Amino acid sequence: MEKIIEEKKQGQSLVLEQKEGNTKKLFIESYGCQMNFSDSEIVASILAEQGFNTTQQLEEADLVLVNTCSIRDKAEQTVRKRLEKYNAVKKINPTMKVGVLGCMAERLKSKFLEEEKIVDLVVGPDAYKDLPNLLEEVNEGRDAINVILSKEETYGDIAPVRLNSNGVTAFVSITRGCDNMCTFCVVPFTRGRERSRDPQSILQEIAELNENNYKEVTLLGQNVDSYLWYGGGLKKDFDKASEMQKATAVDFAQLLNMTAEAFPKMRFRFSTSNPQDMHESVLHVIAKHHNVCNYIHLPVQSGSTRILKEMNRQHTREEYMELIDKVRAIIPGCAISQDMITGFPTETEEDHQDTLSLMEYVKYDFGYMFAYSERPGTMAGRKMEDDVPEQVKKRRLQEVVDLQQKHSFFRTQRFVGEVVEVLIEKESKKSDKHWSGRNSENTTVVFPKEEYKKGDFVNVKVTDCTSATLIGEAVGYSNMN
Ligand code: SAH
Ligand code: F3S
Repeated sequence: MEKIIEEKKQGQSLVLEQKEGNTKKLFIESYGCQMNFSDSEIVASILAEQGFNTTQQLEEADLVLVNTCSIRDKAEQTVRKRLEKYNAVKKINPTMKVGVLGCMAERLKSKFLEEEKIVDLVVGPDAYKDLPNLLEEVNEGRDAINVILSKEETYGDIAPVRLNSNGVTAFVSITRGCDNMCTFCVVPFTRGRERSRDPQSILQEIAELNENNYKEVTLLGQNVDSYLWYGGGLKKDFDKASEMQKATAVDFAQLLNMTAEAFPKMRFRFSTSNPQDMHESVLHVIAKHHNVCNYIHLPVQSGSTRILKEMNRQHTREEYMELIDKVRAIIPGCAISQDMITGFPTETEEDHQDTLSLMEYVKYDFGYMFAYSERPGTMAGRKMEDDVPEQVKKRRLQEVVDLQQKHSFFRTQRFVGEVVEVLIEKESKKSDKHWSGRNSENTTVVFPKEEYKKGDFVNVKVTDCTSATLIGEAVGYSNMN
């Protein structure tokens, strides 16, 4: 099972409003995490200034860009297949240029140009502002590459264009990179060191969304709880900041509080939280504000303290459980979701049982579960043997998925008979007479349309449910409108 929020969108080509006077055609496709989809909106914005309008027709494109993911081997294989497809099209349309963006570009660097010879352009996640220069080189017949990682780049000054948006919910990135060095994870190598974005530019971007009638913002980062603004620079250099900078620094709890207070009619979510960095102050901000959703994505990866140590996660099973207890005490009813990896090197049956029993303890509302995939260059890739047989990884994964399914159903059922506040996002996939949206706890709710419209906050009485969806009837507008 792959990460659900993005799975539906994997490989989607992005289209934005056509800018008059632009004559060149860009086909841009994204894979992987939400950050990649967000970055593609920045890339499209930069290229709109260079005369490009987006197209969904691969065959007519002057420039094809693929924003790539390296998190698991499967993600990279998918991109390779797409590159083959682009190359076949290139034979028909020889002037077409192909570029690789994102994590695979960063991981494989010039290998793409030297060995594979199927791309013209390789651009890492911190180099998108260099695209105009790189395209110039390509047009002069040279291959072009920029995979330099930056200490400062947050793209805070670029207004992303919203591609394929529902016009109601949007993502706003607040940090880039990650300093955590989990031993299985390629992200610190492909996205560089952690840096935070200026809160003023975050508030500015949300204000624009607000003016355009957006109703929900998800603050985005590899590790949002670690957000720290002290005037710019890397998180790891905070020690060297001046006393003044330290005194006026803004952390994640403060940022969340600021956004919730500045925009009381918008709803806020955030992703992803890391247990080691999640401070109690954030829980109090969630509890205090109705417009901060009661939902925390709190990946744990394993329920075994020994495996957590091998993964270089900075907490034990018991510390994680204490954090869960705190969440339950401070925000009663808060939904919690997990990421889990099965078959990490040396994982025994006993470790696996620890994972299942931790899940029993938490009874997560949702989960995103993966079999371990060794990534070259990571600490686990270099130092540990990938010793759990594939079929054992898969069997454990299935057990984890089955248990999660049971818990999801248990959590969803608790809403039956209750009234929940839903933000209408779109028409239900199954019926054009029903709306679909989510409650504060991030569960999908469908109900008859009546007089309500997209973007309304509606109170819905829940009458029935499946393991993933609540079914109900509207009982009136909520006071969030
Ligand atoms: N902090 C990030 C996590 C990035 S990766 C975020 O914002 O979501 C997302 C998830 O992929 C991780 O939590 C982990 O469960 C999974 N993952 C990462 N590396 C993996 C690997 N080598 N094999 C299997 N799953 C992996
Ligand atoms: Fe990866 Fe761990 Fe950071 S999972 S993104 S290194 S918190």
